[in-house]
Amino acid sequence: MSLSVQTAEGLSEGEGGSPEGAPLLDCMDQLIIEQEKVMLARTQKSQAMRAEARTVLAGGIASSWQDAPPCAVWIERGEGSKLWDVDGTEYSDFHGGYGVGLVGHAHPAIVAAVQDRVTKGTHFAQPTQDSIVVARELAKRFGLPLGRYNNSGTEATMDAFHLMRVATGRSKVIKVEGSYHGHHDAAQVSVMPSLDEAGSIEAPRSVAGQGVPDPMAQLTVIVPFADLAAVERALITHKDDIAGMIVEPVMMNIGLIPPPPGYMSDLKDLLHRHGAWLAFDEVKTGLGLAPGGATELLGVTPDLVCTAKAMGGGLPCGAIGGVPELMNLIADRTYEQVGTFNGNPLTMAAARATLLEVLTPDAYRRLDTLRDAQVKGCEDVLRRYQLPGFVRAFGAKGAVIFTDNLSNYRDFLDYDDQWGNAHWLYQHNKNVFLPPWGKCEQWTMSVQHTMEDVNRFVANLETFARALRDEVPA
Ligand SMILES: Cc1ncc(COP(=O)(O)O)c(C=O)c1O
Repeated sequence: MSLSVQTAEGLSEGEGGSPEGAPLLDCMDQLIIEQEKVMLARTQKSQAMRAEARTVLAGGIASSWQDAPPCAVWIERGEGSKLWDVDGTEYSDFHGGYGVGLVGHAHPAIVAAVQDRVTKGTHFAQPTQDSIVVARELAKRFGLPLGRYNNSGTEATMDAFHLMRVATGRSKVIKVEGSYHGHHDAAQVSVMPSLDEAGSIEAPRSVAGQGVPDPMAQLTVIVPFADLAAVERALITHKDDIAGMIVEPVMMNIGLIPPPPGYMSDLKDLLHRHGAWLAFDEVKTGLGLAPGGATELLGVTPDLVCTAKAMGGGLPCGAIGGVPELMNLIADRTYEQVGTFNGNPLTMAAARATLLEVLTPDAYRRLDTLRDAQVKGCEDVLRRYQLPGFVRAFGAKGAVIFTDNLSNYRDFLDYDDQWGNAHWLYQHNKNVFLPPWGKCEQWTMSVQHTMEDVNRFVANLETFARALRDEVPA
């Protein structure tokens, strides 16, 4: 077994294989059954609310990803790094609402900005002063001079697909297998295909998501993560049809995977040689990995960047930024980039406070300290209990990855779901809220987290590790 810690300071690789996984997995089912019982026993009010909600909300929830076995947890309120469910349980919030929560809950600067704005009107479908301030700050952080707003990560990546197509007159866009870019048609291709559907690694199929017509899916060309030769093959096979490529520069959705050194700049050069554009999906990575996202971390500026989630400080938000050649197509109305709520004043007020008052250089330094402690603590647990895997973290985001081998979607398919599921349950039952779907997701820390939250997380990992070791026959 070997461990590898990846922080914003270093991008070195270094995990190896482990013979430990199989006997541990045999015991995992039992732990999951026990922990699901614990969770069900302490979430009675959540379950009652779900039952009531089923009469008016399809499935009794507001979004399908607000549910994870054994039950959806209903939230009462949040403050600082903590949130409380309707049964009164307090959690350290490392879920961060799927990566939104860099500012934590009810941050005084966000509360003040929103309170001030709400008394002056919250929607005009006309621009307000804050939209300039926010755009200027995003341009500075991501190194792309012109921006536009929308209302979600999905809208941001949809605009990127459209803009690259309009700019080139070409219809196809390259996307990485296993990556998630939101729920519009072009992005819902090969997000979580089964091995049977996915085809060979040399020529991955474009697998249509639910409700996406197959001919539409064929316009999205699939490649493995960080495989330059595969991108080149795609550009040659679909000669003069590829408008561009969208990529999460540090891949989430299957854990947390950085590209090899130099990959992103080589990718940009390759795409440009073929007359195609490069879009970074920084919906999760933007602001979370560094003040200027993966763009800053990797030192490669794409042609387009999509941001959302954390920039709104808890309000619905989205934005694209880009090079003048692309963004001027919006300015001259070749591409009419629109949306009733684009640049909504309440969102803009929250985004201004988020960017200028909360996510300051000092805040990032504090996050670095907390992250380093959490990585070190988790790494220590893995080592002492001889569990497979490693810890990987950048900025406010990180993950404990219980396999030694994870560099693309095919590895992810081999990584047993039980690890992430059991770890999630142990954290949840001991007052740490992580995103569900353990092996896909990452933790998010906020600027309001403290060492107490970190210690709680690490202690829970140790409880899980000990339980697992206790179950395994000597
Ligand atoms: C990388 C990435 N892109 C796009 C999206 C879509 O964002 P939204 O849910 O705001 O539409 C997500 C959501 O999780 C995401 O993780």
